[in-house]
Amino acid sequence: MLQSASGLGVLNTAVSGRGDRVAPKGKESKARAAAKTGSAACTAFLQGVLPRLGLKWAGFRKVRGQVCKRLHRRLEALDLPDLEAYRQRLDQDAEEWRVLDGLCRVTISRFYRNRGVFDHLGAEVLPALCQDLQDAGRRSLRCLSLGCCGGEEPFTLGLLWHFGLAPRFPGMTLEILATDSDPKSLARAARGCYSAGSLRDLPPDWRDAAFDAADEVYCLRPEFRQAVRFLEGDLREGMPAGPFDLVLCRNLVFTYFDEDRQRRSTADLAERMPRGGILVLGKHERLPSGCPGFETVSAHLAIYRRL
Ligand SMILES: C[S@@+](CC[C@H](N)C(=O)[O-])C[C@H]1O[C@@H](n2cnc3c(N)ncnc32)[C@H](O)[C@@H]1O
Repeated sequence: MLQSASGLGVLNTAVSGRGDRVAPKGKESKARAAAKTGSAACTAFLQGVLPRLGLKWAGFRKVRGQVCKRLHRRLEALDLPDLEAYRQRLDQDAEEWRVLDGLCRVTISRFYRNRGVFDHLGAEVLPALCQDLQDAGRRSLRCLSLGCCGGEEPFTLGLLWHFGLAPRFPGMTLEILATDSDPKSLARAARGCYSAGSLRDLPPDWRDAAFDAADEVYCLRPEFRQAVRFLEGDLREGMPAGPFDLVLCRNLVFTYFDEDRQRRSTADLAERMPRGGILVLGKHERLPSGCPGFETVSAHLAIYRRL
């Protein structure tokens, strides 16, 4: 279902009965808990639970730190000693699986991520697509950004359009629908303000023209946000109806979802894209073998065309 988006405790200092100084109590229990959610324990836990969520461990290997930190905080909130106790909690409380699913969202993004992809889209793929659409009498390029995080990806597309394509296709407009299941990420998108690190791959002249900077925070000017509409939604429960001429589905389905969900999502995407539509995956992602409906435009940039 899609909807419109819009501590640490005080440490006690303690001295043992034998007079040795010991670690402060709070610190000690946190250290113990950290060990029990540490790398090996967390890896084993994730390997056990991810399949039940339709997710695959391989995708999480490099970014498990983010998820493990959240798990650690969840144990603190539930006052549980370790992940084994959390596993037992999951066995007894079906609702906790929903919480765990939310903890497993990887929310890492940045503007102009994988420069070569956006360079190629701007120089080759999108001009050809816009020309075809224009020749067919179309006046807009309809885009979908799935798993849009804090807006970095759809706003990048907006900038690419503004600085690269709009001057060449003055009769056309850009429409971007951007969806994510994480309300916090969508709240960041609504603010439209980012750290310098999020902008490090963006061409500096675009950054200077499109953002207002104050105190190391860069806020996207309103005129560069207009083309993007954000929606909250879990793509496993449904995708927006479309149709979409361009779909960015990067660093989500084809990294974190299991093969069954990847195949179902590919079919959902194919249903929403007209012939000639362009599908862009994350640079290191591929469509599952044998999925009908798409041909490869660039294998190394993971760009496909709807047949
Ligand atoms: C790793 S980020 C990728 C962001 C962006 N596409 C990029 O490549 O830079 C994955 C995003 O997908 C979102 N996400 C995770 N599971 C999702 C789901 N089932 N439905 C929709 N969005 C989801 C996360 O909240 C996160 O913002």
